[in-house]
Amino acid sequence: MTTRTPLVVGNWKLNTSLPEARALATAIAAIPIAGVETVLCPPFPWLVPLAELLGDAPIMLGAQDCWPEPRGAFTGDVSAAMLAPHCRWVIVGHSERRAIHREDDQLVASKVVAAFDAGLCPILCVGETEDERSSGHAERVIGRQVDSVLAGLTEERTRRLVIAYEPVWAIGSGQAATPADARSMAAMIRHQVATHAASAADSLRVLYGGSVNQGNAADIFAGDDVDGVLVGSASLDAVAFTAIRAAVAATS
Ligand code: PGA
Repeated sequence: MTTRTPLVVGNWKLNTSLPEARALATAIAAIPIAGVETVLCPPFPWLVPLAELLGDAPIMLGAQDCWPEPRGAFTGDVSAAMLAPHCRWVIVGHSERRAIHREDDQLVASKVVAAFDAGLCPILCVGETEDERSSGHAERVIGRQVDSVLAGLTEERTRRLVIAYEPVWAIGSGQAATPADARSMAAMIRHQVATHAASAADSLRVLYGGSVNQGNAADIFAGDDVDGVLVGSASLDAVAFTAIRAAVAATS
């Protein structure tokens, strides 16, 4: 039995008006679920009003990205240091950032360091494309993405890192990885962490993301390898997201 606390993260992406964001956060916070940590990642401008709205509710906030430099001529970017007063978490290296904004491993690694420097907890996303999987390169790609970040982290920071395995082909497709594949990739990631930082392998949390819904969350989470889920579309529906949190709590 693992001692790692299950983690359920909702990635709202570029969705919600402010009234919708308030209503969604209020509905989610209204149903506390013991034994699971919950993080909501709304668009940047909603972090401040939602932090005020949630107060001391047992729901945490995260940003969807950050820029590594603390300040300077980086039009349109928001630094980890600017986010830190308003949220606890930050998603880094999501496949949409890697693909649409051409973020490479080096930039992603520098964002993880900046997040830790600012006192945020980074959620590092890694995942292979459909081509990489079908050509048998999934493990090599994930290995490269994980290595490039771990190379710049102390053992103490590695212990606090969260890694989300999100196969690119599963995101938004309705086609989640099988629970067996999600678990074996999570186990592979943990094994790789152990080769960098032996003491971190037990405490670092590995999530699965990609078409998680209330029907598959429990199966994906079952077992000791997957420590929680990163949820996109289903996190925009308070009922579905609550059911996912409850399924994870009931399975842990
Ligand atoms: P999805 O998105 O749940 O809509 O597949 C997951 C993600 O992008 O993190």
